[in-house]
Amino acid sequence: MIPNKTVEEILTVARVEDVIEDFVTLKRRGVNMMGLCPFHDEKSPSFVVSPTKGLFKCFGCGKSGTAVGFVMQHENLTYPEALRYLANKYNIVVEEVEVSEKEREIRQLSDSLYIINDFAAAHFNTNLLNTDEGRSIGLTYFKERGFLEKTINHWQLGYAMKEGRVMSKEALIKQYKVENLKLLGLTTQNDNDFFRERVIFPIHNLSGKIIAFAGRILTNIKTQPKYLNSPESEIYNKRKNLFGMFFAKGEIRKNDECILVEGYTDVITLHQGGVENVVASSGTSLTEEQIKLIQRFTSNITILYDGDNAGIKAAIRGLDLVLQQDMNVRLVLLPDGEDPDSFFKKNGTDNFKKFIETNKKDFIGFKTDLLLAEHGNDPIKRAEILRDLSNTVALIPDPIKRVTYIRELSSKLEIDEKILNGEVEKEVNKRKKEWANQLQRDKIREARQNSDNEVIIERTEDQVSLRPVEVNPDILQEKNLIRLLVTGADKYIENQEGPTVSEYLLPILEDYLDYFEDPTSKKIVEYGLHKIKLGEKVFPSDFINNTDQDISQISVDYTMSKYEYAKWEERGVYLQTQPMPEKNFKKDTYQSILRFKLHKVKKDLKEMEILLKSPDITDDQKIIDIQVLQALLKERNDIAKELTQIIY
Ligand code: UTP
Ligand code: MN
Repeated sequence: MIPNKTVEEILTVARVEDVIEDFVTLKRRGVNMMGLCPFHDEKSPSFVVSPTKGLFKCFGCGKSGTAVGFVMQHENLTYPEALRYLANKYNIVVEEVEVSEKEREIRQLSDSLYIINDFAAAHFNTNLLNTDEGRSIGLTYFKERGFLEKTINHWQLGYAMKEGRVMSKEALIKQYKVENLKLLGLTTQNDNDFFRERVIFPIHNLSGKIIAFAGRILTNIKTQPKYLNSPESEIYNKRKNLFGMFFAKGEIRKNDECILVEGYTDVITLHQGGVENVVASSGTSLTEEQIKLIQRFTSNITILYDGDNAGIKAAIRGLDLVLQQDMNVRLVLLPDGEDPDSFFKKNGTDNFKKFIETNKKDFIGFKTDLLLAEHGNDPIKRAEILRDLSNTVALIPDPIKRVTYIRELSSKLEIDEKILNGEVEKEVNKRKKEWANQLQRDKIREARQNSDNEVIIERTEDQVSLRPVEVNPDILQEKNLIRLLVTGADKYIENQEGPTVSEYLLPILEDYLDYFEDPTSKKIVEYGLHKIKLGEKVFPSDFINNTDQDISQISVDYTMSKYEYAKWEERGVYLQTQPMPEKNFKKDTYQSILRFKLHKVKKDLKEMEILLKSPDITDDQKIIDIQVLQALLKERNDIAKELTQIIY
């Protein structure tokens, strides 16, 4: 258990934009910040962060929450785990109180793989620094490569001993489960160490946890692979990870550029030399997931590959994928025989940076030059090149960018712009159907965002239409009232002498608790009442940061309403321009509570009428019922009258 005092401290210190920026690039838009949603695929941003409200919401997929909620959802953590993550980020000491045995077990289980990896990294690092074998073989090797001590510590580099089971034995002494060691690939099926007599590079995820290892061989034995990599596991998905991203993401965002290299050592050398916006695809061609990962921080990729043929081929393979994602791709080829690591060491930071700037080639331009140099004189090959390049240009989603490329290509290929344009258009048309489908999906999404109520989507051959779902009106009304209660909790209805919205609404709603149809709405009222009875003021944050996740979630949604979305003219999305609800607390409060009451009275009346018509009602009962009916009728009329008297 984390003490309340600490929870409060964490909640105050953890600024939502600051927490999210570790994972998503945000750009300012008025009072809010926006970026590409990390929870779903999207090309234009619908992910909003409101620093003033301390909340985020994606208007595309609907995910929303607080800083804690973000960490929970993004990192797949429980509430206490997320709090601990934030405490760690902000150097807040958490003094745990009374952790139950069960809680400990659950946490142990969910964290155990990370814990084992942490143990292994520490073990390898100790080998490297504090054993004779490690120092003479591993450390010497790293020093020869020019890795400084601070670099070794920063990347938590290590060494795996020659002897067969050193790591596994120590792990078992520490009571780590052998199944888990095998799951992570640290121990082989025969109970040997997987990494032996290799230097070790830990691989971190986006939040800095160690998810895998790579071990580099130190001898020239050609029968063994140069690098051994951890297998995929519950916590390691190769396709989704880029080596160095945790250490690079800040600089990538700052520079608005991601430099992509091939090797682990390239990344480390460049970082050591002060070029820190560098990550590695680890020798494989880029995956879509990796591109999306980069896209969270920048849309500019500079690919830095060896000048050899394999490097170029690898680069070109990645091209189409990257273009499709609407990223700007540039390529730098290093002189033959050099990799970024060796080239950097020869040239130093400044010359290296200069070389990149002057040799950066736009990817399509690069591909054109390359193809022309290879087969430019052969007329049949030229036609092929033309088709190939048209296809590539057709992949670019932005038509303006396409035009620019067509112009450039036409001069390079010495082909009329119109002809080239025709070729590209042909290809674009082929893809139109695909795009139309995408568009339809976007439309549905947008309709969902813009609709107050839920909608049913009806799809016919080429049309999307919407009709409202028949939502239970009681629930809708309840929700409107609760929205007001949550967002206006601490607002005075008339002035500071009078009650706040919550002080006014809650005691009234107490009488109606049994009527509530939506369980979360009821829970919110109960929670508010509980606070009021303790003599405490009620704030929106009480609901938003509620430990009950249902309460917290719905309160976030109410607070991050679409009203603000309407202000994003930048996206060209103009929604209804209702006044912000905050401006109408007075009217809204009186009106909604009266409507709510009226609705309930009408419901009671209906029931009464049915009761009265029942054939087996006794005369005595009838007399009582009629009295009740009359009281209800009066109440209904009173409320109706009051409603008409509200001055707008
Ligand atoms: P390189 O052979 O270029 O290695 O492979 P490197 O990282 O530059 O290492 P040094 O400089 O020779 O020490 C590039 C990347 O390809 C992956 C690794 O990610 C490596 O960093 N790779 C290579 C493997 O995964 N396994 C291998 O056997 C070889
Ligand atoms: Mn290398």
